[in-house]
Amino acid sequence: MSLEHIATLIDGRAVAAQIRAEVAVRAAALAERGVRPGLAAVLVGDNPASQAYVRMKRKACAEVGIESFYHELPAQTTQAELEGLVEALNARSDVHGILVQLPLPAHLDEQRVLSLISTAKDVDGFHPLNIGRLAMKGREPDFIPATPAGIMRLLEAYQAPFAGANAVVLGRSNIVGMPCALLLTKRDCTVTLCHSRTRDLPEVVRHADILVAAVGRPHMVKGDWIKPGAFVIDVGTNRVPDPSAKDGSRLVGDVDFEAARRVAGAITPVPGGVGPMTIAMLLENTVKAAERSLR
Ligand code: GUN
Repeated sequence: MSLEHIATLIDGRAVAAQIRAEVAVRAAALAERGVRPGLAAVLVGDNPASQAYVRMKRKACAEVGIESFYHELPAQTTQAELEGLVEALNARSDVHGILVQLPLPAHLDEQRVLSLISTAKDVDGFHPLNIGRLAMKGREPDFIPATPAGIMRLLEAYQAPFAGANAVVLGRSNIVGMPCALLLTKRDCTVTLCHSRTRDLPEVVRHADILVAAVGRPHMVKGDWIKPGAFVIDVGTNRVPDPSAKDGSRLVGDVDFEAARRVAGAITPVPGGVGPMTIAMLLENTVKAAERSLR
């Protein structure tokens, strides 16, 4: 690409605002039928990032007419106490979605807690059954995890060509990388899932028509790793020191944005790319759960 080339900016705030507006309409239609969609958020311990995420999710619920129920448990909560709460939430008819904010404190068994959430209320899509269905041909999960679902929605909104495209996903987390690779596979991409042991990462990334970076390392992906015209989705939200900023820091992605946008066809900014989509998709999943409860 020429020096003057600048990639299309993928506007996650705009796409997310559209989704939130649609969710608000669906929530209002449910309210007319006597059902107020409800999301229960469970936070264990005092991880400040988790507290901030849950606060943002609850605020977003209020804005679209979803009731949110908040359960803040102390860090020393036992496995039995947490499981008891999940079972109580499973049984409540005013709770349509349950989200247990991750990570849980180390003494708690995350897998057992996530397995206990009713699949019909699993708006995070983290239940092993839902992830398993995501991995299988001809099966559909009840819910798709919010960040990967948001990434796919952004790629669709900007008309990424899926079928036959080389998609490279950096990072194999349960929450982003792995489900993303599964979703791209379902859309007929040829997917390469990279991780810390991948050999010659720059060369692998150079073949990506679609690149999803979800590793949590500021500016790890360099401009000369990007294939000209590629779709670049940057999931990183890394706080780095910035003396010129008011609070002395700023958010940057996993991709060197300034360099990459001179090569890519389309790219998400950080902030304002994937971030806003995560919450929008959680809201959409919650309203979907409430709609299904009427069937
Ligand atoms: N921790 C990081 N991302 C997420 C998410 O999407 N849902 C939950 N429950 N916890 C998270």
